[in-house]
Amino acid sequence: MDNEVEKPLLSSEEISRRTLEMAHEITRDYQGEDLVAIGVLKGAFVFLADLVRQVELPLEIDFVAVSSYGTDTMSSGVVKIIKDIDLNVTGKHVLLVEDIVDTGLTLKYLMGVLGERGPASVEVCALLNKPEARKVEIDVKYKGFDVPPLFVVGYGLDYAERFRHLPYVGVLKEFEGRNELS
Ligand code: IMP
Ligand code: MG
Repeated sequence: MDNEVEKPLLSSEEISRRTLEMAHEITRDYQGEDLVAIGVLKGAFVFLADLVRQVELPLEIDFVAVSSYGTDTMSSGVVKIIKDIDLNVTGKHVLLVEDIVDTGLTLKYLMGVLGERGPASVEVCALLNKPEARKVEIDVKYKGFDVPPLFVVGYGLDYAERFRHLPYVGVLKEFEGRNELS
């Protein structure tokens, strides 16, 4: 099945090097604060697991799930929460952890929803960023890598629920040469 994926766009070594740098920035920025890392399911589960293990601070972890990529929510900009967080974030510093920021609609919505719950702050940490695909402005405080507007898989990212377990990020061969899936 690996032969359906182009050679790594980002190798596992590159990813772990960058993840460590991001974790150091987070450790520096949130000293003495109440930090809650919230992973956006399912894609962020691998990145969140690697990231938080390098953050040298006490922190809480939770997850949120939203309606998935490729539905009509994309064009309408309406995102739905399928699974909400369990923790109370009032007075705490929220760090939303995402696999990739594409149009920005998912994070825009989540930042709005969580922002209404009285957190001390809401920021975003995303492993990947597709600047060309952005539809709404999003301030991504911690950004791993900018990637071209191609459909990428691996390291948590899927295509029809496949490839999430690959330790690297690669471009799906089927979509090579095409500009965008959505
Ligand atoms: P946004 O709301 O358009 O920013 O969408 C973000 C979500 O779409 C991400 O959390 C991913 O789950 C999914 N997504 C966007 N681009 C890709 C990609 O290239 N590969 C896999 N999933 C993607
Ligand atoms: Mg996602």
